Amino acid sequence: MFKMIEEYGHECVISTCDKKTGLKAIIAVHDTTLGPALGGTRMWNYDSEDAALYDVLRLSRGMTYKNAAANLDLGGGKAVIMGDCKKIKTRELLEAYGRMVESLGGSYITAEDVNTSVADMAVIRTQTAHVAGMEGLSGDPSPLTARGVYQGIRAAVHAKFGTDDLKGMRFALQGLGKVGYDVCRRLTADGAVGTVFDINAAAVERAAAEMGVHPAEGSILEQECDVFVPCALGAVISAENAGRLKCRIVAGSANNVLVDNAAGDALANLDILYVPDFIINAGGVINVAGELDKDGYDQAAVLKKVDAIYDTVSAVIKTARTHGMLPYMAAEKLAQDRINAHKA
Ligand SMILES: NC(=O)c1ccc[n+]([C@@H]2O[C@H](COP(=O)([O-])OP(=O)(O)OC[C@H]3O[C@@H](n4cnc5c(N)ncnc54)[C@H](O)[C@@H]3O)[C@@H](O)[C@H]2O)c1
Repeated sequence: MFKMIEEYGHECVISTCDKKTGLKAIIAVHDTTLGPALGGTRMWNYDSEDAALYDVLRLSRGMTYKNAAANLDLGGGKAVIMGDCKKIKTRELLEAYGRMVESLGGSYITAEDVNTSVADMAVIRTQTAHVAGMEGLSGDPSPLTARGVYQGIRAAVHAKFGTDDLKGMRFALQGLGKVGYDVCRRLTADGAVGTVFDINAAAVERAAAEMGVHPAEGSILEQECDVFVPCALGAVISAENAGRLKCRIVAGSANNVLVDNAAGDALANLDILYVPDFIINAGGVINVAGELDKDGYDQAAVLKKVDAIYDTVSAVIKTARTHGMLPYMAAEKLAQDRINAHKA
C-alpha cells in the first residue's frame, strides 16, 4: 500500500471504518499545490479493499491533472465509499462521511460522482462546508460537460482539417445520455452529419426524430466518419480493436475511453488524433469549481472557462506535435508544468 502511495506521490490518504453506520471509506488527497483537492465521492461495491484503494489512488491523481489542465486553482483528490449503494446508503452513513471530510480541515472538497447525488451532497453538507455541486448553485454538470466536449471537438477538427466549420463533418456518437445527447444536438446544429448508437433504443429513435441523425448499422466503432465521439462507457478502444475505427479523430466525454497506453499508441500509428478524456470532459468540474469562487458562483465566468477547453485542446495538440509525444502525455505535461511553475 505505501509503495503505491509513494509512487503516485499522494500527500495524504485516510480511511475510516464506522461500526455504527457501516461506513467504510477512503479519501485520497493527491496534490494540493494549486489549491484544495477537489474530486467526487464514488460509492462502489468493490471486490476487495485493495481494489478500492487502487481506484481511489488512481482517480485522485487523475483529478490533479484534470483540475490543473483546466486552469483551476485546485488540487486533486477523490473518495470512495465501499458497498452497494442500494443497501448501505443511509442518512446516518452520509453524515458520518461528512464528518470524515470535515476532519481534513478543507484540504479535500467533495462533490457527487458515481452512485452519489446532489441530494447526498446536501446531507454531507450538514456536517462540513467542504462540499461543492449543490442544488441551486452549479447543479447538474452534464450540460457544461457537453459544451466543453463540443468545443474540444471543434479544436480537434481545426487541428486535423484546418477549419472550424463543422458543416458536413461526419461523426459517429456512442451513448445518447445526459452528455452525449447534448453533444449530438450541438454538432447537428452546426450542420454536422451524425450516426448514433445507444443500448437504449428509445434514445436513438428520439435523436433520429429530433436531430435527423442516423441509427448506426453495424458496430458504431466501424462507421466511416471524421470524428468518433465516445459518450458512454470507458475502455472502448484497445490496441486490438483500434484498427476497426474508420475515423480521423477520437473525441468524447467518456472517462478512460482507452483501455491502456498501448491503445493510445495504436491510434497514433493509425494517424487518428485522440483528444485526452480528462481535457475534453472538464466542463463539469469547471462548473462545480465555480461554486468555490470567492465571489460566489458566476455563470458567465464559468461558461468562459468551459469554452476555453477549445484553447486547452489546441495547446495539447500543439505540444504533442512539437515534442513528438502522444496527446495524453502532452496533456499530463501541460498539467505538470502548471503545478511545477506554482511550486517554483
Ligand atoms: N455527466 C458529466 O458531467 C460527465 C463529466 C465527465 C465525464 N463524463 C463521462 O461521460 C460519459 C457519459 O456520461 P453521462 O452523464 O452522459 O452518462 P449517462 O448515464 O447519462 O449516459 C450514458 C449513455 O450511454 C448509454 N450506453 C451505455 N452502454 C452503452 C454501450 N455499450 N453502447 C452504447 N451506449 C451505451 C446509456 O444507455 C446512456 O444513454 C461517462 O463515461 C461519464 O463518466 C460525464
